[in-house]
Parts: sequence; C-alpha cells; structure tokens
Amino acid sequence: KYPAKVKLVDVGPRDGLQNEKSPVPAAVKIELVHRLQAAGLREIEVTSFVSPKWVPQMADNAEVMAGIRRQPGVRYSVLVPNMKGFDAAVASKPDEIVVFGAASEAFSQRNINCSIAESIERFAPVVEAARAKGIHVRGAISVAVGCPYQGDVSPEGVELVARLMKQIGVQHCGVADTIGVGTPRKVQLAMEAALKHYPLDEVSGHFHDTYGQALPNTLACLEMGIWQYDSSIAGLGGCPYAKGATGNVATEDVVFMLHGMGIDTGIDLDKLVDAGQYISDFLGRKPNSRAATALLNK
Ligand code: HMG
Ligand code: MG
Repeated sequence: KYPAKVKLVDVGPRDGLQNEKSPVPAAVKIELVHRLQAAGLREIEVTSFVSPKWVPQMADNAEVMAGIRRQPGVRYSVLVPNMKGFDAAVASKPDEIVVFGAASEAFSQRNINCSIAESIERFAPVVEAARAKGIHVRGAISVAVGCPYQGDVSPEGVELVARLMKQIGVQHCGVADTIGVGTPRKVQLAMEAALKHYPLDEVSGHFHDTYGQALPNTLACLEMGIWQYDSSIAGLGGCPYAKGATGNVATEDVVFMLHGMGIDTGIDLDKLVDAGQYISDFLGRKPNSRAATALLNK
C-alpha cells in the first residue's frame, strides 16, 4: 500500500536558514550541506537567488554554492524567481532550479511582488532557459491549503497553478502547506488537484509543521502513493512572508516514521541527528525535532 522507497529533499539550508534573525556564515551553511550529504540525503535545497533586499540571509548564495564539495549522485537545487535570479544561479551550476508560485493572489503579491499570472510570465523564460541547459525544473505551489492573508485556499486554486506550471514546462510540482494549517483530508484534496496535471512520480509534499500536522499529512500522502517530500533538518525555518509560520517538518522525524514503517530512505538517522545538532548548536538552540530530542537524550 505504501511506497517502498521515499526520497526526501532537505530544504533546511534554504527554507530553514532564510528565516534566521542573526546571520549564518557561508562556511556553516556549507558544512551543513556536507553533513546532510554524508547522512545520505540525495537532494539538498542549498540556497535561493532572490533579491538580497528581500531576503538578506541568502545573499551569500554564490559563495555557498561555490564552497560545496559535490558528491556524485546528489542533486543541489536553488530557488529562482526570475531571469535575473536564473542568470546569477547558472554560474553556480545547480542541478535543479525551483520556481515558486502561490495558490492565492494575496500571497503571490507579498512573497514575489506580482500576481499569479505575472509570476507565470516571469517563470516561462526561466523554465525555457533552464531546460535548454539541461537543468531540471521543479515548481513549488505555496499556500496550497491556506493563506495567511486570504484564509482557506481551494483545491481549484492549486489546480490552476499546477496547470499553468505544466503549460510552461515545469517538470515537477511541489505542493506546499506554507503555514501548516493543512490537515490530512485537505492536503489529499490539494494533492489530487496537482495530480490532475502531473503524474504521481512528479508530485511532492512540502509541509510546515506549525500546527503539528506535518506527519499525519505525510502519512495521508503516502497512502496516495506520493513518495517525495521536502523536510528540513532540525525543523529549521519558516517563510519571511508568512508571519508565525514555523519550520518544515524535521527531516529526523520523517525519517524515524518512514524507517519504522519499513520504508527505505537511504538516510542514516544517527548521522542525520548529528547534522541537526551541528546546526542547532550553531544557532544556540535545541533541534526542533521530537525524534532528534529523544535520540539525543537516550
Ligand atoms: P521586485 O522588487 O518586484 O523585482 O522583486 P524587480 O524586478 O522590480 O527588481 C527590484 C530590484 O531587485 C532591482 O534592484 C533588481 O535588480 C533586484 P535595484 O535596481 O532596485 O537595485 N532583483 C534581484 N536581485 C537579485 N536576485 C534576483 C533579483 N530580482 C530582482 N533574482 C522578487 C521581485 C521576486 C525579486 C522579490 O520579490 C524577491 O526576491 N522576493 C523574495 C521571495 C522569497 O525568497 N521568499 C521566500 C522563499 S519562497 C518560500 O519560502 C516558500 C516555499 O518554501 C514553499 C512554501 O513553503 O510555501 C518555496
Ligand atoms: Mg517552505
């Protein structure tokens, strides 16, 4: 019933660290990426090529990308909002870029300063240029179940963005519960909307754990056969344009659940917990992961 294997994308270095108040040096971000790949992560969202005025935490994007010791078989991805970001990102040789839209007009305006339709217009040349260079293109649909400015978001909102992304050649559709208000049935409906335009192998879940729903939501998606998820080491993160949103579900917690279900991730949980402790020590707090906390106190 459940997939035998799951691929996790650790978005901690990007989604996690984009929201830190105090600056995190590039060297620490690079070491975190190294520890994640040593723990068995095969895809890591490293940074974003967005405006440093909007997200100063990611201003060291090129330096971080240049400092990573790349391991064969690992995909390094970066967020790109427009051609300017793409041109800057290309020099860093990402394996994959992520264009990010929203299922609500209000969130699109606050996050990327344009309407949904305008965002698709901006993404179209980015997608074309990336694919011409053989760079894989992933899409993310923010606020897929609820928006901090608009409230509830309908599956039709998700379906519209999924359709538009498909039309411009985005290869993969990530469905994101940015503020963590989704509950299993709502998330399944959002996933079904994305699945109208993307095959099962090209849909993934991105769950923030604000209300503690990310694991049940993951389980609900596993029941649908969805086998790819974003998660964040030590539960780092939040979105600067989604007030009150906490981090993504902790990678440690997802791995603990999946391994307990006999689902293969290729990840070494002990090494993963070490990676989480490394970044949490730097940030001066405890990992925001129940599994990591339990394992560290064992
Ligand atoms: P804008 O101000 O509308 O853009 O911002 P613009 O084209 O009018 O340019 C204004 C200035 O920004 C210019 O500089 C541009 O050169 C510069 P100036 O002439 O004033 O000196 N600029 C850039 N600089 C560097 N890189 C770029 C870039 N583009 C323009 N790529 C823009 C539009 C999208 C750039 C802006 O709104 C922005 O950067 N937003 C940040 C969005 C962001 O990073 N949000 C967090 C990530 S998304 C997320 O976390 C959600 C996700 O996790 C899924 C989920 O959970 O929902 C993915
Ligand atoms: Mg996010």
